[in-house]
Amino acid sequence: MSEHKDLRFPNDFLWGAATSAYQVEGNCRNCDWWHWEHEHERFIVDGTKSGIAADHYNRFEEDFALASELGHNAHRFSIEWSRIEPEEGRWDYAEVDHYRRVLESLHSHGMTPLVTLYHWTNPMWVAKKGGWLNPEIIDHLTRYTAFIARELGDLVPVWFTINEPMVLSIVIYGTGTIPPFIAGAETTRPVARNVLKAHARMYQTVHQVTSNNPLVGPVHNLECIEPANEESEEDRELARLLDLSANEYFLAAVDSGTIGPPWGEGEEVPGLKGSWDVIGVNYYLGRKVFAERRRAAEQSLRERGSLVPPGNMGRRRHASVNAAAEMNTPYMSPWTEESYYPEGLYKEIMRVSKYGRPIYITENGTPLTDDAERNRHLLLHLREAHRAIEEGADLRSYCYWSLLETWEWSFGHMLHMGMWALEPETLNRRPRPVAYLYRDIAKSNMISAAQLKEYLG
Ligand code: FCB
Repeated sequence: MSEHKDLRFPNDFLWGAATSAYQVEGNCRNCDWWHWEHEHERFIVDGTKSGIAADHYNRFEEDFALASELGHNAHRFSIEWSRIEPEEGRWDYAEVDHYRRVLESLHSHGMTPLVTLYHWTNPMWVAKKGGWLNPEIIDHLTRYTAFIARELGDLVPVWFTINEPMVLSIVIYGTGTIPPFIAGAETTRPVARNVLKAHARMYQTVHQVTSNNPLVGPVHNLECIEPANEESEEDRELARLLDLSANEYFLAAVDSGTIGPPWGEGEEVPGLKGSWDVIGVNYYLGRKVFAERRRAAEQSLRERGSLVPPGNMGRRRHASVNAAAEMNTPYMSPWTEESYYPEGLYKEIMRVSKYGRPIYITENGTPLTDDAERNRHLLLHLREAHRAIEEGADLRSYCYWSLLETWEWSFGHMLHMGMWALEPETLNRRPRPVAYLYRDIAKSNMISAAQLKEYLG
């Protein structure tokens, strides 16, 4: 007899996949990332441009039809601010209609929309004012939130405010990946504070302008950071500090309503306390930290007077690569097999569970190109999610990253994270084997013992 047993998920569990506008729609010409791709040589590791991306802007109907056929009953996507407000204070109603059609299409396919208001891209007029380094962005985002929630709120049951505020602060700004290309606390600190203030305002605003009582919350990336050597006090302390800044700071702030260490001194933020009806969790990686190696890395970085790690062949590398180097974990890419740590998903769900809010897994996935590995990766993570449910976590959804091949920020087209591949010339959708495994799980609302045996042995 197999040692495995069927793992059933709660009734009404949402099975979906996630995307973000800039990464799949194509032709987001009015935002900062588009501009940087064209203006800054070597901004993208593989030198590609987002261009038409997956052309999801024009093919959403076809994509949702296929997703629903493949068992999805939910979908997370973001609204592109630069389409809605291409110039300060000018609303583009044709684009509002576009997103209304997107939402209607999801509903007609029986898929619950989970909508992200802000997934990292700024209209050019916001970027020109300094993006997240200028606190004015808080007012701008609040006004955009009020507008879009008023226009589309009737079709949205779950809103997410800001995607991964801490990745934005620490990785994107803090490693100097984007203009003004300044690494360190000088950029991390203001951004880490502004995102909290913006989140609080956006949360309050959605509730003020909607009447259908939606769930509103942030999407927080959690990385499972642990000491390399449990016995070493230094390693434990380093893990605690890194965990505090990347993971716990944000949770503690929304819970308490104050900006705490390491990016604040306890200042109160109006509207922040308890500004989550729900929490979106993105989970990808675990990280073991070595105090001694970090010291050596810091020393060598200081000697070179730079935060950019050696051996980058003259290219500006992806922020998370730089961050990995800073923390002295593998230099090549954080997306290595060794960084997968499925148990970390369980641990992180249990961590957020103590805040007593419903939890949505809003992203989890891998760029592994081997199909068998990809299937295993999915099952190993879902099994951990299930374990958390069994231990009392109020987990309500799982969204795979991504529905289809994405344009992966500074990695360009290097990372293949789609549940569906794209044929190069036609962009025709070609579901990978993992899409069929996912369909079987989603449609039966469980992972069967037979599947566990077949894929995990
Ligand atoms: C997350 C981002 C998402 C995507 C994945 C791979 O940090 O939210 O847009 O790039 O990583």
